[in-house]
Amino acid sequence: ADDGHGTAIEAQEWSFGPPFGHFDRAQLQRGYKVYQFVCANCHSMDLLSYRNLGQPGGPQFSEAAVKALAAQAQISDGPNDKGEMFLRPAKPSDRFKAPYANEQAARNANGGALPPDLSVIAKARPGGPDYLYALMTGYEDAPHDMKMSKGMHYNAAFPGHQIAMPSPLSDGVVEYTDGTEPTVKNYAKDVSAFLMWAAEPTLEQRYKTGARIMIFLIVFAVIMFLAKRVVWAPIH
Ligand code: HEM
Repeated sequence: ADDGHGTAIEAQEWSFGPPFGHFDRAQLQRGYKVYQFVCANCHSMDLLSYRNLGQPGGPQFSEAAVKALAAQAQISDGPNDKGEMFLRPAKPSDRFKAPYANEQAARNANGGALPPDLSVIAKARPGGPDYLYALMTGYEDAPHDMKMSKGMHYNAAFPGHQIAMPSPLSDGVVEYTDGTEPTVKNYAKDVSAFLMWAAEPTLEQRYKTGARIMIFLIVFAVIMFLAKRVVWAPIH
């Protein structure tokens, strides 16, 4: 498929395709791990709270796991009664910790480029999770006839092919504990699925509602057909 920028994005197989798809819990859990260890160093996800990680329809980490994952982040709170700000471990009700204090700090750390918030990126870019996967796996040597700007990286999937983000993934950077091979392709797939859930947390519910409506409409159509036959029956 074309992503609208003249860049070919290959469609991947996802567990969450319509009409009956659902998220693969283990995949979302691995995807969160990739986000947390790699992407969260530069990207915020301001619309998510740690408690969302335990909600139905998502990664569904246990309550204890959500608490532990939250507590890994130290977030700023306060002022206390002395008027000071202080650091404390995050709670499930806190929003995901952002890597930078503000846009200026984010740009300073990234050569002037701004890493976008990833909360809804899977819905904000044409191609959605297929694009995210293509982007993560799209780093290549630039063609010889292409002049790259300073600090930019060649990426086959990125519109214009010059992106400020360096290739974030390499084999083995995140430890997987469920037997999944720790490869760039698997990381890319898992983190893309995770970002899709983040952007559309009620996807499973929406499919279920849709399926029920279709069943209702089919049953209703049969009833109406039978009723029509009675109402318009020939008179003898
Ligand atoms: C841009 C995802 C890790 C820095 C982006 C974009 C996405 C993304 C989807 C937007 C691309 C677009 O506009 O279409 C991810 C994911 C990561 C990750 C899933 C983890 C696997 C990182 C890391 C850094 C970083 C570790 C910092 C070292 C940036 C920057 C941009 C960007 C600076 C803006 C690029 C530009 O506009 O040229 N990232 N990223 N990212 N990311 Fe990342």
